Amino acid sequence: MSTTLFPGTALVTGAASGIGRSVTFSFAKEGCQNLVICDTNEEGLQDTQAQILAAYPSTEVMSMVVDVSQEDQVQKVVSEAARRFHRIDYAVNVAGIFGESGRSTELSTAGFDQINNVNYRGCWLCGRAELTQMLKQEPLATHDGRPGNRGSIVHIASQLGITSRSNAPAYCASKAAIISLTKSDAIDYSQDNIRINCVCPGVIDTPLTSHPPERKALLRPAIAIAPMNRMGTAQEVADCVLFLCSSKATFVQGAAFVVDGGYTII
Ligand SMILES: NC(=O)c1ccc[n+]([C@@H]2O[C@H](COP(=O)([O-])OP(=O)(O)OC[C@H]3O[C@@H](n4cnc5c(N)ncnc54)[C@H](O)[C@@H]3O)[C@@H](O)[C@H]2O)c1
Repeated sequence: MSTTLFPGTALVTGAASGIGRSVTFSFAKEGCQNLVICDTNEEGLQDTQAQILAAYPSTEVMSMVVDVSQEDQVQKVVSEAARRFHRIDYAVNVAGIFGESGRSTELSTAGFDQINNVNYRGCWLCGRAELTQMLKQEPLATHDGRPGNRGSIVHIASQLGITSRSNAPAYCASKAAIISLTKSDAIDYSQDNIRINCVCPGVIDTPLTSHPPERKALLRPAIAIAPMNRMGTAQEVADCVLFLCSSKATFVQGAAFVVDGGYTII
């Protein structure tokens, strides 16, 4: 039996900011000793690493600038992580963009491609590389001795992949695709004892929704749709992600877990 819920290694994309940074911190706080973090934002990544090492000095952090839409970069971070830590037990694919807004007739092809390349293709590229590594490893010990899994992947989708909203056809569709990808992979890799789930956040207070400051006011009507009528925090999303990664979730497979203050029940 293990003393932490998170023995082994966690890999987090989009770790320079918002939900990804919060997920990374949560792993460190809960005793995960080996962290692999990546993002396109080098400065933010360095900040995350420095803050983690200051708060949890025994943690080993491997950090790499990676664009998740680029196959060679994704392959590189996964193979480097495996070389250094020998396994990847928890992979959380958070990197994402909102991108160009507008109805379909106003959206450029380049804008459409950029959103899908980062959000949907990025999750697929990362998931494929992570699965390839997880297939090579044996299950880890669990907190209570139950049979463990070989690995657990959590993609970050969105409430907008379940419902939708105006002026964001490519974003909403990219998140719906992530939910569908999650379910397909969950079916295919159950036989290999690997779990794949996704989390669908509602409106969460992060740099994505708070910069520029006018954006928060624009989001007021969306926030009010949720019965809880407030923004969620990155920590509230991270808590759900960590549950799904943990050995307390050994029978949770292919779920699209909403963390949205009730947005999708209305
Ligand atoms: N904040 C919300 O309200 C909300 C709601 C639903 C879903 N989400 C999703 O949660 C995820 C995280 O969002 P957030 O709110 O923390 O935003 P954020 O902007 O604070 O963080 C996103 C991170 O992803 C990184 N990133 C962007 N493109 C990348 C790429 N190509 N390769 C690697 N890294 C890249 C950014 O540099 C940034 O550090 C996204 O997938 C987003 O779609 C957010």
